[in-house]
Amino acid sequence: MFIKSYSLLILNLNFNGEIINMSKIFISCALPYANGPCHLGHLRSTYLPADIYARYNRMIGNDVLMVCASDEHGTPIAVKADNENIKPIEVSKRYHDMIADDIKSMNISLDNFTRTTDERHYDIAQNFFLDLYNKGYIYKKDITQLFCENCNKFLPDRYVEGICPVCGSEARGDHCEKCGRVLDPTELEDPKCLTCGSTPVIKDSYQYFFKLSEFQDVVENYIDNNINLPPNVRNYAKNWLKEGLNDWVLTRDMDWGIPVPLDEALGKVIYVWGEAFLGYISSASQWSDETGIKWEDYWNDYVVHFIGKDIIYHHSIFWPALLSAYGCKMPDNIYAGEFLSLEGQKMSTSKNWVVWISDFVDQFDPDLLRFYLTINAPLNKDTDFSWKDFQRRNNDGLADVIGNFLHRTFTFTHKFFDGKIPEYKDPSDEDMEFEKLIRELPDKVGEFITDYEFRDGLLEIFRVCKLGNKYFNDQEPWKAVKENPQKAANTLYLSNQLAKTLAIVLKPYIPTKADAIAEIINIDIPEKWDEAIVPLPAGHEINKAKPLFKKIDDDVIDAQIAKLNETLKITEEKEDENMSDIITIDDFDKVEIKIGQIKEAEKIEKSDKLLKLQVDIGDEVRQIVAGLAKFYDPEELIDRKVAVVVNLKPAKLFGTLSEGMILATGESGALLTPDECEIGERIQ
Ligand code: MF3
Ligand code: ZN
Repeated sequence: MFIKSYSLLILNLNFNGEIINMSKIFISCALPYANGPCHLGHLRSTYLPADIYARYNRMIGNDVLMVCASDEHGTPIAVKADNENIKPIEVSKRYHDMIADDIKSMNISLDNFTRTTDERHYDIAQNFFLDLYNKGYIYKKDITQLFCENCNKFLPDRYVEGICPVCGSEARGDHCEKCGRVLDPTELEDPKCLTCGSTPVIKDSYQYFFKLSEFQDVVENYIDNNINLPPNVRNYAKNWLKEGLNDWVLTRDMDWGIPVPLDEALGKVIYVWGEAFLGYISSASQWSDETGIKWEDYWNDYVVHFIGKDIIYHHSIFWPALLSAYGCKMPDNIYAGEFLSLEGQKMSTSKNWVVWISDFVDQFDPDLLRFYLTINAPLNKDTDFSWKDFQRRNNDGLADVIGNFLHRTFTFTHKFFDGKIPEYKDPSDEDMEFEKLIRELPDKVGEFITDYEFRDGLLEIFRVCKLGNKYFNDQEPWKAVKENPQKAANTLYLSNQLAKTLAIVLKPYIPTKADAIAEIINIDIPEKWDEAIVPLPAGHEINKAKPLFKKIDDDVIDAQIAKLNETLKITEEKEDENMSDIITIDDFDKVEIKIGQIKEAEKIEKSDKLLKLQVDIGDEVRQIVAGLAKFYDPEELIDRKVAVVVNLKPAKLFGTLSEGMILATGESGALLTPDECEIGERIQ
């Protein structure tokens, strides 16, 4: 058996003239915004598929460079800093550190993780901008922009909220999460300043634009001719391309960001999406400095970006166009992981309807999450995370299928063969069939991973493990060891070979568990995929068995569900509180307040508080009972202008009909006296 040279591998000659199969692969993970820690969604859409791919490729001898960085600019971080009254860099530093820990705790094997506030990143981004400006691909243009007169500032991107003009859902500034559309904030319907809630005005300004429209053909060709691109990326991109590409505003009026490197452009920064991509390059170039190895060789050989589906537009359209303008090779592939919901509901960080990575690893082994997220559904399809399903997959899959197979293999080897791999002789048909399954497994899994079919690879491993359990049962080694010892020897020989193969093929998926298997088998931690084909020799002694995969108890899962529900309760309560404080303009609109004039006033018998009034509200005269007797004599009120709620449901007070309410302060009974107003005018 040999490891195939998959489609990705190209032929190289080493200095002895021998053919070596090796590619250099540049793998990037989308830069997480440094405005919050990582949750399950980040892991599933981006880091996990990237890591499985990277680990596998390293194991087959490809030379991998995998980079990422935190994305520290952009308005959400600036807004958060405003709210907390601290500097944006303090916000981004806090989350950068948390994200770095999250990524590490999940064993994502990045070669470098940097930040976009790194000096090198500023240099690279500014040079890139200047290069495109000098080539005429970036130009200055007068535009109108939303301006908040209350806050006295232009409202870039997410400083403004409104309704998406395309799909009608709520959108923030530059991007509608619902339909994935990139927006110009002036297009938003019913825009509101995020800081103060007032309606912004449109004002003249200028910005720098990227001539995206000139790259329509280039991008179309790229999408059409790049056979690697998966269907979700291709289809999204093609739909957007149909509408025609417009030039793209590449700068913003803000303090937080990378300054536009032109003297004339004081106070303007490069739009976060105009520089974040370059984080891939700055992270790689930092790595090059540290290692002395050229990152460009990786880029020029094969580049694949792992991203979430919400940023397909940016990576399939903006980024190829920017690269092409610069004169640089475009990505060979883009893998877009899709969305994960939580217990059937959309994840929401603001409502805390998420499972944070750090909370997960406090309770569970990170490999259990890597396993569950991979097996649950293809990573490039939407799916749901539920704690019960997580428990089921762990207990019925990892523990029952893989754990059980390994445990019985190892304990039997100790019980009947002194912990040593027995001799394999005169195999039966069943033995040979099982042997074939084991031998073919690494290739099959490898092909799936090469094709980005991560789940299928794992399912294949499960299929063989299940057959392994069946083979073990059918062979009944516990009986055979007395009646036909060679049969039992063959069973345990092959079962140990599968165990060893598992230590290798599981490694891209659940690296620490795979290493733990290797430890029990008592071999060096496997680093190469083709080690799977080297059989454990008869006589090799394995270590004592210990349970690697345990079942998760109901109470552990119930506690997690209770914790989530608690979060939900708290946010609902908060929402209720907020609701009691704040009303919408529509709520206010429901109250119809008009200017009226009091025509008659008299005391109501038996009440020392109430007066019966006749009030002219323009088109009619209403009878209103008001609690003003303590403050005014009836005659004082005649001819006074007052504010009247005219659409209040009529009520009877002390047997007297009241068809409205006069506005006055509660304590002193001071009337609101709109003397200047016309009778019948509405207050709004
Ligand atoms: N921070 C962005 C997001 O989370 C992704 C940036 S990816 C990059 O949506 F390519 F721009 F780096
Ligand atoms: Zn404002």
